Amino acid sequence: MAHTIVTIVGSLRKESFSLKIANAMAKLAPSSLKLDVMTPHGISNFNQDLEASPPADWVAFRERLQKSNGVLFVTPEYNRSIPGVLKNAIDVASRPYGKSSLLGKPTGIVANSPGALGGVAAAKHLQNILPGISGPIMGQPEIYLNGVGDAFNDKGELVKEALQKVLEQYLAAFAAFVEKQNG
Ligand code: FNR
Repeated sequence: MAHTIVTIVGSLRKESFSLKIANAMAKLAPSSLKLDVMTPHGISNFNQDLEASPPADWVAFRERLQKSNGVLFVTPEYNRSIPGVLKNAIDVASRPYGKSSLLGKPTGIVANSPGALGGVAAAKHLQNILPGISGPIMGQPEIYLNGVGDAFNDKGELVKEALQKVLEQYLAAFAAFVEKQNG
């Protein structure tokens, strides 16, 4: 059976390149992976006061992660870091203390930008944030997708061949990584 990978997009924007990349990856993924693409839409702001009686959206998000076989972050860079909505989702996933819903989940990071640097700073921040609360993070290949602004047509379909190739290579490596971790 295919491994389910919760694919968390770091943007709420309707025309988000990150969302389009995640959707393209879901189509390009090998048959051993099923990408369950989601955005942080509807995840309430983290507030420690609510921990004793967590909102339904937190519970649903945590359960979605717990049932998965891995996690993929597809994120833009905001001000040389990750968008606040993604950090909020990670904070929600990380609690209760010691019981992060990301624990043990093989994790991939796909950063992107319409700019020249491909969101590398966002990826590096995720690599700082995650280790204490996640499963193993795939180190290679690294993937920082630059110039994504002209990668999609009006229907949101991926039309940049070079990008498709890079995504396919990444997905093949991630599938092997997930296979190794899930046995
Ligand atoms: C950006 N953008 C941006 N790009 C980048 O490469 N490095 C950065 O530090 C930033 N900082 C930044 C801050 C804020 C508040 C915004 C709104 C934007 C540009 C960003 O890459 C661009 O808007 C992307 O299109 C956002 O990703 P989605 O929504 O297309 O996935």
